[in-house]
Amino acid sequence: MKEILPSGRSTKVTYAIRDIVVKAQALEQQGKRVLYLNIGDPPVYDFDTPQHIKEFLKKKIDEDASDAHHKVSRYADSMGLKSARDAIAAHLRRERGLAVSTDDIAVTAGASEGIMLAIAALVNPGENLLVPCPGYPLYDSTLALYHGEPNYYALDEQNDWQVDFKDLERKIDAKTRGIVVINPNNPTGAVYTEETLRKILAFAKKHELVVFADEIYDQLLIDKEYKHHGLAALAADVPVLAFGGLSKNYVMPGYRVGWLHFHDPTKKMPKLIGAIKQLLRSRLSAPHLQQHAVSAALNGDHAFQKEFLLRLKAKRDVTVEKLNAIPGISVVPPRGAFYAFARVQLPPGQTDKAFVEQLLEEEHVVVVYGSGFGLQEYEEHGVRYGHFRVVFLAKPDTLAHAYDKIAAFTKRYYEKHHYTPK
Ligand SMILES: Cc1ncc(COP(=O)(O)O)c(C=O)c1O
Repeated sequence: MKEILPSGRSTKVTYAIRDIVVKAQALEQQGKRVLYLNIGDPPVYDFDTPQHIKEFLKKKIDEDASDAHHKVSRYADSMGLKSARDAIAAHLRRERGLAVSTDDIAVTAGASEGIMLAIAALVNPGENLLVPCPGYPLYDSTLALYHGEPNYYALDEQNDWQVDFKDLERKIDAKTRGIVVINPNNPTGAVYTEETLRKILAFAKKHELVVFADEIYDQLLIDKEYKHHGLAALAADVPVLAFGGLSKNYVMPGYRVGWLHFHDPTKKMPKLIGAIKQLLRSRLSAPHLQQHAVSAALNGDHAFQKEFLLRLKAKRDVTVEKLNAIPGISVVPPRGAFYAFARVQLPPGQTDKAFVEQLLEEEHVVVVYGSGFGLQEYEEHGVRYGHFRVVFLAKPDTLAHAYDKIAAFTKRYYEKHHYTPK
């Protein structure tokens, strides 16, 4: 029998955030202690799911035996549990001041599932979505699966990683169906101003695009001066598919609970919404038990979030201070989420991937190379630059230790390549 080969489209899927872990695990097998600063998974570090949410879920399992109609062992409704959808709609009305009904909400297995189904429902082979560069790689990999194309638009590092509108205008073409906006952003931690968001909406309206509003980090704003503006609330006449969930804001990524909010104020996408609902039915339902966590989380005590954000601020501050003190490295202070996207000068011919892999081999610190988020190395005023992303969820002492290791490595790396950082 011949070897069984995978489809061509599947071989186009890469996911740098986890791909680098394969190398890290090999080092661990050799007995090395590895510091992981690569994955945005708060419970891996010093955070945990709020106790009241766990208690609520335990109660739901206990009640299960006595309630034949609401057994959590059943499939849930394809659109999601009514209690969860009600809670999400009420949450969005409260937070966004927006008219949202239960019918506008679908519950998905993480925001990831909603994003994948929405792309499947919208993009034909050869069509494209405007995707931020740098940006979260799920959009690229899903487009690859459906023979669509990521059409990268630049985020401007010199302008706090806000959208580069000149680049956006250059990139749009006849095959563009939508624009992805990640706010707060992964990997840069940028929070978009209202002005940026309004300009994106005007652009989407002019070019008749659907806006994908990825708002999975919308409650994780570190600085008081920065406010999160939900895109749907600003979109009076533009169709928006908004994605949210419990993974990050409520410290429960492993539960896989997310949602999709259909916002179509001028009825421009009823058929698209119908197609997404059809796909939701074809995959039966999101996991049932975990959907009970939605009302417990959104309607419950939010005191833990205050502490979460205070601790995040201390971690962010040590990240910015220590990374900016390393010759050859600079970082724009992140304002939301838990990612910092550092720029590193590279000696001629060197790649960000090799920098990150050597850092792992020599200092056992795992970060993710910037090209894994779509941003390739480039030259500016005769200097070559690359990037790497740091997840700053570990304890401040651990982070400081990791940044000392990055500093020591970078110094050796430049010496080895006879390079003096500018
Ligand atoms: C920007 C962005 N969108 C979506 C997701 C996926 O979230 P979920 O856990 O809800 O699938 C992530 C996860 O890291 C993310 O960073």
